[in-house]
Amino acid sequence: MQTIATSVDDSFQRMRDKLEAEKVRPHHAMDPYFYRSHLVHEQELEHLIFKSWIYALHVSEIPSVGDYQLIEIGEDSIIVARTETGEIAAMHNICRHRGARVCEASSGNRKTYVCPYHGWVYNIDGSLKVARETHVMPDFDASAHGLKPVKCVTYMGLVFINCDPDAGDLVASLNNIREPLGAYDLEHAKVAHRQTYRVEANWKLAIENYLECYHCATSHRAYARLHTLKDLEEQSAPVVAKMLERADEITGVPGISKEHTQIYLDAPSFGACAHTMRYGLFDGFVTGSKDGQPVAPLMGNIKAYDGGVGDFQMGPLTFMLNYPDHCVLYRFIPRSRTETEMELVWFVRDDAKEGHDYEVDKLTWLWHHTTLEDEYIITRNAAGVNSRFFEPGPYHPEFEFTLQQFVHWYLHSLEASLDYTPTTLAAKTRRPEVAFSAAGRTILLTPHGDMKRVLVLKRHIAIGR
Ligand code: FES
Ligand SMILES: [Fe+2]
Repeated sequence: MQTIATSVDDSFQRMRDKLEAEKVRPHHAMDPYFYRSHLVHEQELEHLIFKSWIYALHVSEIPSVGDYQLIEIGEDSIIVARTETGEIAAMHNICRHRGARVCEASSGNRKTYVCPYHGWVYNIDGSLKVARETHVMPDFDASAHGLKPVKCVTYMGLVFINCDPDAGDLVASLNNIREPLGAYDLEHAKVAHRQTYRVEANWKLAIENYLECYHCATSHRAYARLHTLKDLEEQSAPVVAKMLERADEITGVPGISKEHTQIYLDAPSFGACAHTMRYGLFDGFVTGSKDGQPVAPLMGNIKAYDGGVGDFQMGPLTFMLNYPDHCVLYRFIPRSRTETEMELVWFVRDDAKEGHDYEVDKLTWLWHHTTLEDEYIITRNAAGVNSRFFEPGPYHPEFEFTLQQFVHWYLHSLEASLDYTPTTLAAKTRRPEVAFSAAGRTILLTPHGDMKRVLVLKRHIAIGR
């Protein structure tokens, strides 16, 4: 783990001062303080990360009763398990006696979870089954000592968790992207491959990188050869418009090119972002592979290749890039102040046979390759940003638009957390005067998510964050 110095006299007042300083320097990268401070990191975990909806796994990864996987977030561990009723439940991997982890292996099948310390036994739904020798404790209530539950919802086969018991309704948000996402029938997809990339960088730098395609032309030659989103909208618009005109007809999926964006400060509830749009590949390419040619059978209800790619966001940390023949999910998880896990999951239809219908190497080549390139630039970005001599420069108004939406959300959420009461965070981070105002004119903005997003918005970023 990379070690960076941090101020011993850090304080909430210092954080407030730094937040105030950001307001007088809008549209610029963030001060190094937000990547270096231990206090900021603790505040982020408590008030942003553990209050956000985060992708956990696909239902097909825990098909049988007792199957489970551990999801590691920050210093925490969460069990996501298939219970006796066939439902999926999530719970903290922390014994209710004196706090030992009750489950060690990262995945498996269990009839119970037995704490290695004093042997308390939990059922797979988290309820306490046996606590040794507690019959001598007349007031002990076993039913009040189950593993603490974590909120958990399943949407089209994708399981999301949220550690905030009062979290808002993610499904209501995701229903806005139902038609385009439904085209891939993810409920009947399977995980063809999954890989974790541990990057020595603060989680914000990894997300910031994902949310802009300014670097695509310089860092991702293979990606940029296929995807029009490496270009400014003025260049890519004709290709995208041509694809969009016929997308519904060619794919046979009405609404596949529907657009919807309510992310970060615009999300209906805290941490419940939802976004979709369809963007184009250059002529002659139909999917995200080394040569732009198919690597798996068409997904779900899609009848033919339209030269388009579905771009999705679900919650603040989870993204998807859905090609007609395979889908790639991207999830960012902070593990420490200087380490982030980027998890990539490749989906194909569930009846596709490896070695016959698809080869894992070919399927994963483009995004594995692109992610290694990202790892390279993100770690170099981290090394520079962590310097006390870094002076933040200006964001590109088009390429780095979505990145600024993230930064606005981040800074406002952090500010709101400083005088947090259960109702203030959601309310304060959605202050109407904060980030946007109607501009009365149409501006084409092309931010990105490792891929830029072409958004036609009748608004622009107003002054200040
Ligand atoms: S800490 Fe788990 S039984 Fe004591
Ligand atoms: Fe990238």
